[in-house]
Amino acid sequence: MTRTPQAAAEEAAAELRSRTGVDGYDVALVMGSGWAPAADLLGASGHELASADLPGFVPPAVEGHSGTVRSISDGERDILAFLGRTHLYEGHGTSAVVHGVRTAVAAGARTIVLTNAAGGINPAYPVGSPVLIADHLNMTALSPLTGATFVDLTETYDSGLRELARSVDPTLPEGVYAAMPGPHFETPAEIRMLRAMGADLVGMSTVLEAVAARAAGARVLGLSLVTNIAAGLQDANLDHEDVLATGREAAGTVGRLLADIVAKL
Ligand code: HPA
Repeated sequence: MTRTPQAAAEEAAAELRSRTGVDGYDVALVMGSGWAPAADLLGASGHELASADLPGFVPPAVEGHSGTVRSISDGERDILAFLGRTHLYEGHGTSAVVHGVRTAVAAGARTIVLTNAAGGINPAYPVGSPVLIADHLNMTALSPLTGATFVDLTETYDSGLRELARSVDPTLPEGVYAAMPGPHFETPAEIRMLRAMGADLVGMSTVLEAVAARAAGARVLGLSLVTNIAAGLQDANLDHEDVLATGREAAGTVGRLLADIVAKL
């Protein structure tokens, strides 16, 4: 019989425990493009290992996604930070995409912070803005869950955690994040469709991880960094390099914001 995803996550959590010497984590973060430098501000770094050294993780495919797992202590809590994530477009399936979140929950984390780079659809969010994810549109048409797992997604992104984030920065806007399968960027017609459907942000990650985290009973906080205006909404083409450059430029400000939010979790 093949291993269940839960057994795979427990195996990875056991290996993590033996390599880091940390018995359990309180909070886990997935650092998307532009967010990774923020990990340096979260506390004292302990062990850092290549995620591919843990069972069930695949090597990273994307520049800007370093693919490591860092154990951090802020003096009071143990924090697990994934620097980089597995995307659906890498072709390893939904289980690989959510393995990090499942491993974090198996390692004790009850709060999962998911960060990403996103295209801005709502004109109120300029490039470089951090935006709280209030809800999502899962345009991948996939779920990481199988079987009769009827998980309630009414409040996927915890309202208490959003309030807490706004206590750090009352100006933080909220939006609906639409996840497309990628790896290609959207067409202008697709962006018009997403806007009509109520999306404020567009990206290629986060939603499957949020579903897996909710299914595992963890609370989710989602944060996007607007790295570009979505396709067709301005007179420019999209380039992954620009996405990375905006991420680098915003790293200091969003890093401080994230560290201040995590300190309050
Ligand atoms: N579309 C999809 N994913 C993205 C974008 C975008 O415009 N920007 C950053 N990630």
